[in-house]
Formats: sequence, structure tokens, C-alpha cells
Amino acid sequence: MTHLVQHGFRLCAVGASLAFAGLAFAQDVSFGQRLYQDKADCKFCHGPDGDGRGDPRSPGAAANFHKTILDKSQLVEVVTCGRPGTEMPHFDKYAYDDDTPCYGMKEKDVGKDKPPDPHSTSLTKREIEAVVDYIVTTFVGK
Ligand code: HEC
Repeated sequence: MTHLVQHGFRLCAVGASLAFAGLAFAQDVSFGQRLYQDKADCKFCHGPDGDGRGDPRSPGAAANFHKTILDKSQLVEVVTCGRPGTEMPHFDKYAYDDDTPCYGMKEKDVGKDKPPDPHSTSLTKREIEAVVDYIVTTFVGK
């Protein structure tokens, strides 16, 4: 009997810490959400629902996140480095610098295919992680 009671207590403790982790996670996602929908303005091209239907004034042909086949680290890489030869901007200010090459390329290698600077703002590594967490939680596979 004592054993059962202890067991029940432990399960309850696990439940509480999971609920707490969920709460912390929701807060992280709301930070990423503000970046996506507002500060970094990803929605201008990718649309508020992440389906690639952005503003009519955007260049168009932005990815639909619901259908992406990229994993989290690949999503982080694209947001950091942009997509060479496309309108997808590089959100790391230092992308393609000598110390921080992208896809194995520096400024001189990527040349005229270097992705544009964002029309909104550059992002820190932590902000890039947060916006990708938001995309993975909200859009990918949904
Ligand atoms: C000026 C328009 C524009 C903006 C702003 C923009 N994107 Fe993109 N994005 C694109 C385009 C266009 C592509 C498709 C590139 C290609 O053809 O490979 C793309 C592709 C991507 C991909 C690759 C997805 C895949 O499955 O291949 C990711 C991830 C991504 N964008 C994330 C973001 C995030 C996060 C933001 C905001 C921080 C953002 N984008 C802002 C235009 C934009």
C-alpha cells in the first residue's frame, strides 16, 4: 500500500513538471510568433498562416511550411543563410562573412546569388531558434 501511494505521488510530480514545461514552451513560441508575424515580418512573404500566400506586394513563390521536408536544423540554416539565388533573405547579419560561411560559401563564392538582406531586421541566433520553434509547432505537418 505504501508503495502504491508513493508511486501515485511520483506520477503526479511528473505530471506537474510536464505541465510546467508546457507553459514555458508556450511562452517561447509566443516570442517566435511575434518575430514571425511582426518584427521580422516573415508573414509578408510566407503568409500569416505559413502557407506561402504572402502579401500581393511580396516577390511571391515563398515556401509553404505545412509541406516542408526540412528538419529543425535545416530550417535554422535557411533562416540564417537565406536561399542563394532566391528572394529568401539571410537573417544572420554576418552570413557569408569569412568567419561564418554558409553552405560552405563565403561572399566571393556566392557572388551575385547572395540572398538579399531582410526588409525588416536581422535576427540573433536565439531569435532564429525561436522563430523556427514557432514554425515547427504551428505549421509543419499540420
Ligand atoms: C522577401 C520574401 C521573404 C521573406 C521576408 C521571408 N522569406 Fe522565407 N522564403 C522566401 C522564398 C521565396 C522562399 C523559397 C526559396 C526557394 O525557392 O527555395 C523561402 C523559403 C524559406 C524557407 C525554406 C523552406 C523549405 O521548405 O524549403 C524557410 C525555412 C523560410 N523561408 C523561413 C523564413 C522565415 C522564418 C522568415 C522570417 C524570419 C522568412 N522566411 C522571411 C521568401 C521570404
